[in-house]
Amino acid sequence: MTHKVLVLAGDGIGPEIVAEARKVLEALRRGFGLAVELEEGLVGGAAIDATGTPLPEATLRLAREADAVLLGAVGGPKWDDLPSERRPEKGLLGLRGGLGLFANLRPAVLYPELAAASTLRAEVVAGLDMLIVRELTGGIYFGEPRGIRTRPDGVREGVNTMVYSEPEIERIARVAFEAARRRGRRVCSVDKANVLEVSALWREVVTRVAADYPDVELAHMYVDNAAMQLVRAPRQFDVMVTGNLFGDILSDCAAMLTGSIGMLPSASLDAAGKGMYEPIHGSAPDIAGRGVANPLATILSVAMMLRHSLGEGELAGRVEAAVREVLAAGLRTPDIDGGEGTRRVGTKEMGDAVAAALLAQA
Ligand code: NAD
Ligand code: IPM
Ligand code: MN
Repeated sequence: MTHKVLVLAGDGIGPEIVAEARKVLEALRRGFGLAVELEEGLVGGAAIDATGTPLPEATLRLAREADAVLLGAVGGPKWDDLPSERRPEKGLLGLRGGLGLFANLRPAVLYPELAAASTLRAEVVAGLDMLIVRELTGGIYFGEPRGIRTRPDGVREGVNTMVYSEPEIERIARVAFEAARRRGRRVCSVDKANVLEVSALWREVVTRVAADYPDVELAHMYVDNAAMQLVRAPRQFDVMVTGNLFGDILSDCAAMLTGSIGMLPSASLDAAGKGMYEPIHGSAPDIAGRGVANPLATILSVAMMLRHSLGEGELAGRVEAAVREVLAAGLRTPDIDGGEGTRRVGTKEMGDAVAAALLAQA
């Protein structure tokens, strides 16, 4: 069976990093007979420029028809003054919501070769291997009411609503407990239950779901403490489960533990395992067009796609091994501190090296 993958390059460094991910898919096709068919679509600023909307109907339809979606990044200064409804980011949120991709898996793994590249001491991050399970289609990102309004006294106010229903909390909690069973059997649920009612319900429901997983240890942590603990002693975490906004913030923080935000992949899954795959970072307008962006987060997102949506776990392992190999060989894009025995390379050279390492395995 041929896998159908929709590729949405997006904006900024999106096209640059996605081009390298495509090289990896091409290497898998040539070297290992992966049957994959790529289609292309528009999203974000690129879609606004071409069609006037950040998520054209055609893109959503192609995404529904595909077995998986690979996305670069969206957004940039060119579109920052648009009203929130018409911004590039709305295209990404529309895909997540429209496809029902409620479970966002963001693994933060330190490759041993990068221990010295972290801004934290090597002994603090060595061996880090955690998974952030971020709820992706609810919470304050999607809650109503929202908007900017004018009160009767003429004062303007901005409004967003953080709301979670019991079923929404329950299903993301189950994803976290199931994932923990395949890893270290520990879940830390992160909330703000000391202040927010939405978090009090979150904690209650997660605790209830935990009863179905007596073999998994559950802990709760307030989000402010969690941010501190991530930097103090990150290896205490196995699976962290949290809401949309907290997960967004904490995953950027966790990324830096691994040496660079350019290293963290993600999978966004629906109830049936259909998924969209993207690096956790953005379109990096400050370095776009210079050929220096780190493509590894996107390449590692391809590995997650192979494992979670295409049933090609063995090939996923090969991609991850190829990434390790190029890091071990000392190749570094400029976002990662070099140091002795390393060699600075650009986006293309890094992608070529991973593809070559893969083909050498064939
Ligand atoms: P960003 O993640 O784009 O960049 C933050 C910093 O990290 C920048 O200095 C950037 O150069 C660096 N960086 C990010 N990815 C890198 C990579 N692969 N290699 C090397 N360096 C990398 O975040 P930002 O600057 O806050 O946002 C820029 C734009 O991206 C905004 O429009 C934002 O809305 C959008 N954004 C999109 C996504 C997404 O598409 N999933 C995620 C985050 C931000
Ligand atoms: C991410 C991004 C998005 C988010 C934005 C661009 C909508 O920051 O994927 O982490 O906040 O979820
Ligand atoms: Mn983010």
